[in-house]
Amino acid sequence: MTVKYNVLKKLSSGENVSGESLAKELGVSRNSVWKAINSLRKDGYDIVGQTNLGYKLVSKNDVLSREIVEEYLKTKNLDIHTYESIGSTNTELKLWAQRDFKEGTVIIAEQQKQGRGRLGRSFSSPSKTGLYVSILLRPKFSVSDALFITTATAVAVSRLIENHLDEDVKIKWVNDIYMNNKKVCGILTEAAANFETGLLDYAIVGIGLNLLMPENGFDEEIKDIAGHIFDKLPEGGRAKIAAELVDNFFEIYSEFPRKDFMDEYRSKSYLDGKEVTMSVGNKMLKGIVLEVNENAEIVVKLENGEIREFSAGEALLKKK
Ligand code: BTN
Repeated sequence: MTVKYNVLKKLSSGENVSGESLAKELGVSRNSVWKAINSLRKDGYDIVGQTNLGYKLVSKNDVLSREIVEEYLKTKNLDIHTYESIGSTNTELKLWAQRDFKEGTVIIAEQQKQGRGRLGRSFSSPSKTGLYVSILLRPKFSVSDALFITTATAVAVSRLIENHLDEDVKIKWVNDIYMNNKKVCGILTEAAANFETGLLDYAIVGIGLNLLMPENGFDEEIKDIAGHIFDKLPEGGRAKIAAELVDNFFEIYSEFPRKDFMDEYRSKSYLDGKEVTMSVGNKMLKGIVLEVNENAEIVVKLENGEIREFSAGEALLKKK
């Protein structure tokens, strides 16, 4: 642990702490404390220093740091990493997964330069207004159960939003979160199977949240479907939201392979009753969505009257 990290921990109570007592408690020189304070200020922490009173962390200024995230986290034994900017949290974590990083390694970024979406698409990931999180898992259950990691994540995100807002959160099969008919979050789960054990070597679940409206609005290609969750960030800022998201996820994940959360998932289905075109491989099939079933398959009544369950593919809505 660095001096800087320890100083931040001591200050995070929001109380005045003297440089002398910090140095004593941490067993370092006053000069080291002073250097740590300056470095924290450079990172954006608003720390005031007053003669006789010492230092005080005035506001956390929505700083997204490992220390602050950990302060809010309830789940134990996670390995949190934060980045101001990164290519893609999923791509980075995939490299780490191949290097034996443990389950519960989490990358949180303020911005992604090469954010990735499903089906090889890009995912717009502007700085300051979004939150991009990837979680590494080493599932010990069957590959078929692992498919529910995505649906569990969708429930974790919807609980997060509903905890803060009196809003009806919907899940568009299989992994988009909608609020007021706009997509506010996308989820991308990527996994590597081990054919010898029949288990997964790893799974990475990536979550991209549009927390606020970007200063210049959403990119042209997504502006008709993208929405934002908050008009103003709740107390605690992005660090607290990230911690809540990760906690919500692990609360559900700890119940695996039990899937009680599927009732919640199904009750939030955005597509029930809607006309969709199912894009499966190179086929396009029109129909009306009846429901999402307990196996997380979408049940569609096709134009020819046939009722079909789809476990993969994309449900396309008519453009308004
Ligand atoms: C989609 O809507 O198609 C899925 C989007 C998933 C975006 C998240 S952001 C964090 C993680 N890193 C990525 O590059 N993608 C996922």
